[in-house]
Amino acid sequence: MRVVAEGHDLMARPFIKWAGGKTQLLPELLRRLPAAFGRYHEPFIGSAALFFQLQAQGRLRDAVLSDTNPELIELYTVVRDAPEELIAALQEHAAHCLDREYYYAVRSWDRQPSWRQRAAVERAARMMFLNKTCFNGLHRVNRRGQFNVPFGRYAKPTVCDGANLRAASAALQDAELLVDDFAGVVGRAAAGDLVYFDPPYVPSSTTASFTAYTKHAFGAEQHERLAQVFRRLTERGCTVVLSNSATPLVQELYAGFPMTRVVARRAINREATKRGTVHELIVQSQLAQGHALEHTEVSQL
Ligand SMILES: C[S@@+](CC[C@H](N)C(=O)[O-])C[C@H]1O[C@@H](n2cnc3c(N)ncnc32)[C@H](O)[C@@H]1O
Repeated sequence: MRVVAEGHDLMARPFIKWAGGKTQLLPELLRRLPAAFGRYHEPFIGSAALFFQLQAQGRLRDAVLSDTNPELIELYTVVRDAPEELIAALQEHAAHCLDREYYYAVRSWDRQPSWRQRAAVERAARMMFLNKTCFNGLHRVNRRGQFNVPFGRYAKPTVCDGANLRAASAALQDAELLVDDFAGVVGRAAAGDLVYFDPPYVPSSTTASFTAYTKHAFGAEQHERLAQVFRRLTERGCTVVLSNSATPLVQELYAGFPMTRVVARRAINREATKRGTVHELIVQSQLAQGHALEHTEVSQL
């Protein structure tokens, strides 16, 4: 969906920074998708890079976006249903975007008894403000679910991009937004639907572990459960595409499915020295029409 803002056609882009954001891999993902499909399901929504791209291309009829992070889904819901209220709340925060004390005061809201009584718009604006001003745009919470990322070092962070939020709101109008575990897609997807899985990565080494998106870590057991869901959906006749790190576990879990290794640049890593190019795998339930496996296929891993 397009929104005409000040005479320009504006395509919505992801409005939050999210570890594992798929913007760079989009061309590789897009060329592996069928020309037409039924409903689109994205059960690990994050910043929803593929959803916004498909929406901009006019390829979506019906979309179900879900994630286990309730705050993230609440933010999407507020963007969809109350963009002007969100923009107004964000503009107030934006005036303090270089103020460290203000950041920590807003960060502490989820430690206060009034937290659950706050309006959804206030919680959503807080999440976006912290996302734009915290260290590296990380999302990390402690055992109690309280956000604990320190203040970031930005010269001039863009806290409120009103035009993009309005475009994102328009793009989300027909999307269903759910707090749900990824396996919930089994109850919703039908033959001909497209499902894109972008789970938390299987770590390429133990120190590079990047599983703490929610209170519950996403370990090997979850990846095995996901591989079973992938198979069930494939048997049902859905088109399923999955991206993950190029590790022996992923290769083993999806043995027999078409797999391609692609190069990505990963910006967020606990060890600064490990920033740089990494390999990712794109797994497909079947090859898109007219598409052959390429030289980067799994045998080269
Ligand atoms: C790699 S990120 C998705 C990145 C996204 N594709 C993008 O472009 O930004 C993984 C997401 O999985 C979510 N998640 C973790 N465990 C989950 C589960 N069991 N079911 C569904 N979502 C889960 C996290 O909250 C996080 O948003």
